[in-house]
Amino acid sequence: MSYRLSQAIKIGDIELANRIFMAPLTRMRAYQPGDVPGDLQARYYAQRAGAGLIISEAAQISPQGKGYMATPGIYSAEQVQGWRQVTAAVHAAGGHMACQLWHVGRVSHHSLQPQQQLPVSASALPYTNKTTVMGEHGEPVRVACDTPRALRTDEIPALLETYHQATLNAREAGFDMVEVHAAHGYLLHQFQSATSNQRDDAYGGSLENRARLTLAAVDRSIAAWHPSRVGVRLSPLGTFNGLDDRDGLEMGYYLAQALAERGIAYLHLSEPDWAGGPQLSEEFRVGLRARFPGVIVAAGNYTVAKAEPLLAAGLIDAVAFGRPYIANPDLAHRLLSDAALNPPRPELFYGGGEEGYTDYPALA
Ligand SMILES: Cc1cc2nc3c(=O)[nH]c(=O)nc-3n(C[C@H](O)[C@H](O)[C@H](O)COP(=O)(O)O)c2cc1C
Repeated sequence: MSYRLSQAIKIGDIELANRIFMAPLTRMRAYQPGDVPGDLQARYYAQRAGAGLIISEAAQISPQGKGYMATPGIYSAEQVQGWRQVTAAVHAAGGHMACQLWHVGRVSHHSLQPQQQLPVSASALPYTNKTTVMGEHGEPVRVACDTPRALRTDEIPALLETYHQATLNAREAGFDMVEVHAAHGYLLHQFQSATSNQRDDAYGGSLENRARLTLAAVDRSIAAWHPSRVGVRLSPLGTFNGLDDRDGLEMGYYLAQALAERGIAYLHLSEPDWAGGPQLSEEFRVGLRARFPGVIVAAGNYTVAKAEPLLAAGLIDAVAFGRPYIANPDLAHRLLSDAALNPPRPELFYGGGEEGYTDYPALA
């Protein structure tokens, strides 16, 4: 039997070989100083080039956008140079790659911020959980996030400019697309949710106002390239990073429609159930499809068995696999041939070097 996941899919003028995508996966192994990707990342991603599309680990679009140790950036010349090496290796292996554009907002700690300043968010409300900084010997250490300061309205144009510049940088670095990270309780999602956004300017209050920053960031990204080169990741109802996404479904619908009007490359739906959230209902999927006729990429606890009926029903168009891609460099091949999968080693997800990163075996 041949799976729908094996079918090619076109995004804009780019033909992707199959519908098995690699989800964005933070691994905290960028070279120091400067949070620069390099040889190690080039090897890791090239091993996974059998994916229809690789979406990079989240890359901070400015020093202020950083919230964890050793995550790569996409704002300095050295980082662009490093990513160039990565995209060249992926292209040489026949793959395609998008760069995930990231600003963490309040999921950060002053030690990760320029001049040890406080992280920024929609409002000065804390994320009452931890993030990861680097210990004395390069090891990951968990620390409480700081209570952020609220972004001033007059700071927003400069913030939006970092989305524009990061998209130009990603183009220059040889990526095929960018993905705006508007999910998982990071900055754009902090603006979307009424529990983290208590602003009284044009970026807070009504649902439309709370969606404004996300859409403005996407617009700046589109202006730097083309709608068919810009994907967007949303996580309606995701409780990830302490966000209580009360009107998440309504927000998801609103954003989906606004993004469809812009003709973006794809809508990437990070489903909440893999991280303790509820399962998305069939009704929501149908409603989302009605509002977004373009490419919908789904992610979160997927298997071939979960994907195929949703593809057949036309509710999704591709699936991004996360943990299975960490552990199986040849995941697309394995899934399409019903081969067994290597189990992931979660203790090696974050930080370190080759171990748990480039040493998972492919099938002979
Ligand atoms: C180690 C790890 C790192 C992740 N990093 C990111 C990230 O940088 N950006 C993002 O949008 N999601 C990130 N996620 C979420 C994944 O993209 C994916 O949605 C999630 O793992 C569920 O898919 P899975 O069940 O196939 O693993 C991460 C997940 C894991 C396990």
